[in-house]
Amino acid sequence: MIAFAFFAKRDRGGMRLAVIGTGYVGLVAGVCFAESGNDVVCVDKDVAKVRALKAGKMPIYEPGLEELLRRNLGEKRLTFTTALPAAVKDAAVVFIAVGTPEGEDGAADLRHVLDVARQIARAITSYTVVVTKSTVPVGTSERIRLAMHRETKRPFSVVSNPEFLKQGAAVDDFMKPDRVVIGADDSGAVALMQELYAPFTRTDAPIMVMDCASAELSKYAANAMLASRITFMNEVANVCERVGADVDHVRRAIGSDRRIGMSFLFPGIGFGGSCFPKDVKAMQRFASETGYDFKMLRAVDEVNSYQKTRLVAKMREHYGRLKGKTLAIWGLSFKPKTDDMREAPSIALIEALLKAGARVQAYDPEAMRVARRIFGSRVTFADTNYGALKGADGLAIVTEWNEFRRPDLARMKSLLKEPVVFDGRNLFVPANMKQHGFTYYSIGRS
Ligand SMILES: NC(=O)c1ccc[n+]([C@@H]2O[C@H](COP(=O)([O-])OP(=O)(O)OC[C@H]3O[C@@H](n4cnc5c(N)ncnc54)[C@H](O)[C@@H]3O)[C@@H](O)[C@H]2O)c1
Repeated sequence: MIAFAFFAKRDRGGMRLAVIGTGYVGLVAGVCFAESGNDVVCVDKDVAKVRALKAGKMPIYEPGLEELLRRNLGEKRLTFTTALPAAVKDAAVVFIAVGTPEGEDGAADLRHVLDVARQIARAITSYTVVVTKSTVPVGTSERIRLAMHRETKRPFSVVSNPEFLKQGAAVDDFMKPDRVVIGADDSGAVALMQELYAPFTRTDAPIMVMDCASAELSKYAANAMLASRITFMNEVANVCERVGADVDHVRRAIGSDRRIGMSFLFPGIGFGGSCFPKDVKAMQRFASETGYDFKMLRAVDEVNSYQKTRLVAKMREHYGRLKGKTLAIWGLSFKPKTDDMREAPSIALIEALLKAGARVQAYDPEAMRVARRIFGSRVTFADTNYGALKGADGLAIVTEWNEFRRPDLARMKSLLKEPVVFDGRNLFVPANMKQHGFTYYSIGRS
């Protein structure tokens, strides 16, 4: 019966899939699965978002995604709806990709995930594989299974398939993953997932099959590790400033060690985004629920909050009082190539400046629409990065967009009231800035 159900749930060779939640993860997954020949229905409860997506309009900025969205809409392999029951009724595989935000106590808030699981259970009519793509604490697959059993007598399998994409390179990461992790205890569901991912893993990327708990934990451990590397380098940079060393030299020296490697060793003004901060907290939380105190992650959290204050501290040191000063800000998104400002260090910096009585003139290539919703008229938004400099007492660089890397220094000098740069991303060579007449502050370098 199950084999027949699969057969019935195939279209033109591909599978019929439903993806619930069309945020950064769900939209990328839906579009990429459609691109590989499946028939995909994407569901979101946000009516305006679904309307825009149906018209081929992107609700987010993610390089390369719009073109794939339009192509697959045109080929009719991809549709969008707010009606979950109809979307999942005929799907062989249903992906849950809704948000798991930080709850009040630091734990991941699973309300959306469990709510969607119950809705799926009520709608399925035959064997369905339900896959958790959202980042969820260990034990959630089991909670989903129980929640669904209460709602349906139909057969289903629950699979954990954490997503490792990076915003800003999400399409590439999804199409050419380093690995695909599948947590499942049902060989039929595993075979289906392997078939689904086969087009993305041709170039030797392994599909790793494991139990659900290990799959769920792998995602948190990966994010916690990356957040810890950044944090470690931030602390090394803070020491560099005190002892007169240059963190760039130190970074290259340690990164050349093959056991360490070069990536994720750039110091800055703290990590942000929708994942690292909440996942670091959630991992501490579910570890502590088992009686284990994850001390290192507590420190990561603490250092990261401190790091977000570093640039303002340098400004206070330079100006004395910030009241009445105007600061230009280059970069608002939490990292380049995204418009996402969730937990962005720019927010902490701008709020601190406004609180101290300073004015802010900001520019970002993609995140201005989002920033306007956050700050309203409290911040002046410029049309270009140079526009933000006009009459400002100094410039703070917050996000390392490529277009900020080789600026016209003479033009910058002519626009700024005082040629001072607070560089939170170490974009420039200190000696060069000095030579061009700038007072230049960066992270971990003198
Ligand atoms: N953003 C990333 O880079 C990334 C990477 C890997 C994993 N993740 C994880 O994936 C999950 C989703 O992250 P995201 O950044 O895509 O989130 P997001 O907030 O951008 O999108 C979530 C979407 O789900 C929709 N939604 C919420 N409840 C719903 C419901 N009941 N029915 C239908 N739609 C609903 C929302 O309207 C929203 O569009 C999270 O658990 C996150 O931790 C995110």
